[in-house]
Amino acid sequence: MAKKGVVVQVLLVVAITVCCLGATEAQSQSLGFECRSDSVQCRALIDYTAPNNTNYRAIQKLFNVKHLIDIVGANSLPANTNGTDPVNKGRTIRIPFGCKCRNSTGLSSNRRPVYTVQSGDTLSHIAEEVFSRLVTWQQIQAANNLTDPNKIDVGQEFWIPLPCSCDQVNDTTVVHYGHVVASGSTVQQIAQQYGTTQDTLLNLNNMTDPNKLQAGQILDVPLKACGLNVKNESLDFHLLVADTTELYTANGCVKCRCDTANNLTVQCEPSQAKPANWSTCPTMQCQTSDSVQLFIGNATDSCPRTTCAYAGYAANQTIFTTLVTDSTCPASGASRITLPSSFLSIFFASIAVYQYFSCLFD
Ligand SMILES: *[C@@H]1O[C@H](CO)[C@@H](O)[C@H](O)[C@H]1NC(C)=O
Ligand SMILES: *[C@@H]1O[C@H](CO)[C@@H](O)[C@H](O)[C@H]1NC(C)=O
Ligand SMILES: *[C@@H]1O[C@H](CO)[C@@H](O)[C@H](O)[C@H]1NC(C)=O
Ligand SMILES: *[C@@H]1O[C@H](CO)[C@@H](O)[C@H](O)[C@H]1NC(C)=O
Ligand SMILES: *[C@@H]1O[C@H](CO)[C@@H](O)[C@H](O)[C@H]1NC(C)=O
Ligand SMILES: *[C@@H]1O[C@H](CO)[C@@H](O)[C@H](O)[C@H]1NC(C)=O
Ligand SMILES: *[C@@H]1O[C@H](CO)[C@@H](O)[C@H](O)[C@H]1NC(C)=O
Ligand SMILES: *[C@@H]1O[C@H](CO)[C@@H](O)[C@H](O)[C@H]1NC(C)=O
Ligand SMILES: *[C@@H]1O[C@H](CO)[C@@H](O)[C@H](O)[C@H]1NC(C)=O
Ligand SMILES: *[C@@H]1O[C@H](CO)[C@@H](O)[C@H](O)[C@H]1NC(C)=O
Ligand SMILES: *[C@@H]1O[C@H](CO)[C@@H](O)[C@H](O)[C@H]1NC(C)=O
Repeated sequence: MAKKGVVVQVLLVVAITVCCLGATEAQSQSLGFECRSDSVQCRALIDYTAPNNTNYRAIQKLFNVKHLIDIVGANSLPANTNGTDPVNKGRTIRIPFGCKCRNSTGLSSNRRPVYTVQSGDTLSHIAEEVFSRLVTWQQIQAANNLTDPNKIDVGQEFWIPLPCSCDQVNDTTVVHYGHVVASGSTVQQIAQQYGTTQDTLLNLNNMTDPNKLQAGQILDVPLKACGLNVKNESLDFHLLVADTTELYTANGCVKCRCDTANNLTVQCEPSQAKPANWSTCPTMQCQTSDSVQLFIGNATDSCPRTTCAYAGYAANQTIFTTLVTDSTCPASGASRITLPSSFLSIFFASIAVYQYFSCLFD
């Protein structure tokens, strides 16, 4: 009896090990992140797992993210998230950062983030604990030309070279997201979650066998992205909105999402966040011929339907708006808006006619 019990237990353990674990525990390592478009710069994302109880402000500082609202958007957090709000140990937060291709490798640009050595630090502590294995100590050593990795001084500043890429994937512009693989997840499941395919992930990450996925591995995940439909003189002309994230622009006054289900159409609305560089957010209203008041994100219910869309911003506290008319009138869409008499469909369909009524608010 006792012997049989032991055998059954051993078999169970073997069975669990063989069939139930997707990714297995291992050192973090990135295999992909080729970046062939040399000297090109872009925005990228990477997962950071808090090594202990901390808050958003501390994470923002650690990664030298300019505005807290950029972290809020990357993680689709509530717009009123406060820097002092806690981030518990083990929680994963997406960090937005600038990326540059150099010598076929993508690394965080402008020699950022910069980490200042504290008393008691070692390179491996900085790599493994402080930055949760997003880099190895060898990568920090190489990026900073350190001849002796054991000789580091308090106050010395090190560039932490985060892995990233600016390359197109299958001729499509994407936002590269360094996803830290959780224990038990599979390539197929990650592909599904982020709107890509297993083959794409395997190719991009130089993997041949999906079963070789390891927990802690930094997987290069290409997120679909929308370009902003803004005037070419707008300060955010080059920005992309990645799927599953939100982007705060116009100094935080406008919040945009990418609707991947509708031909990658971008949707923006007033953010309700405190502006980063302006005392208040300017009016975000379109000029209409009739008495109807349309703010960014609002649409009329008449056909052709007219939507008030975001069209960019300028440093002088100006937000541009434009009226976009959709001549094809879908039977019904996801309803939400809002004009005086009835509920209307929000503008989810593709833009057929794109009209500029010069709607500048001074
Ligand atoms: C964040 O919370 C602190 C107190 O926890 C408060 O003093 C501060 O005003 C808040 N900041 C914002 C922007 O709400
Ligand atoms: C570029 O990469 C190659 C091989 O990875 C290496 O031999 C070469 O030294 C690198 N060049 C520079 C300028 O870093
Ligand atoms: C939090 O983690 C950092 C990095 O590992 C460590 O230096 C620091 O002492 C920790 N702080 C607390 C309060 O545990
Ligand atoms: C490291 O050395 C290389 C080649 O000698 C040089 O191009 C680079 O600027 C150096 N980086 C730093 C941080 O000193
Ligand atoms: C491009 O798409 C094809 C099929 O749609 C896929 O098999 C291939 O892996 C993709 N390439 C990359 C680099 O992901
Ligand atoms: C991809 O993997 C092959 C074989 O393991 C290796 O020779 C090659 O250098 C890798 N390429 C990249 C970009 O890591
Ligand atoms: C911006 O667009 C306008 C027309 O819409 C064009 O005349 C102008 O040359 C463009 N400017 C730049 C810098 O591309
Ligand atoms: C999606 O957008 C592209 C480019 O704007 C356009 O050519 C295409 O017809 C659109 N497809 C659909 C289904 O609306
Ligand atoms: C804030 O706006 C002014 C112009 O209004 C600009 O010169 C400055 O660079 C901006 N600062 C930041 C941090 O964006
Ligand atoms: C228009 O958009 C604003 C801002 O997003 C929203 O508060 C409002 O409910 C919408 N509808 C109307 C009729 O203003
Ligand atoms: C603000 O700047 C934009 C573009 O730079 C310009 O078109 C607009 O007239 C300016 N508005 C004011 C009030 O200066």
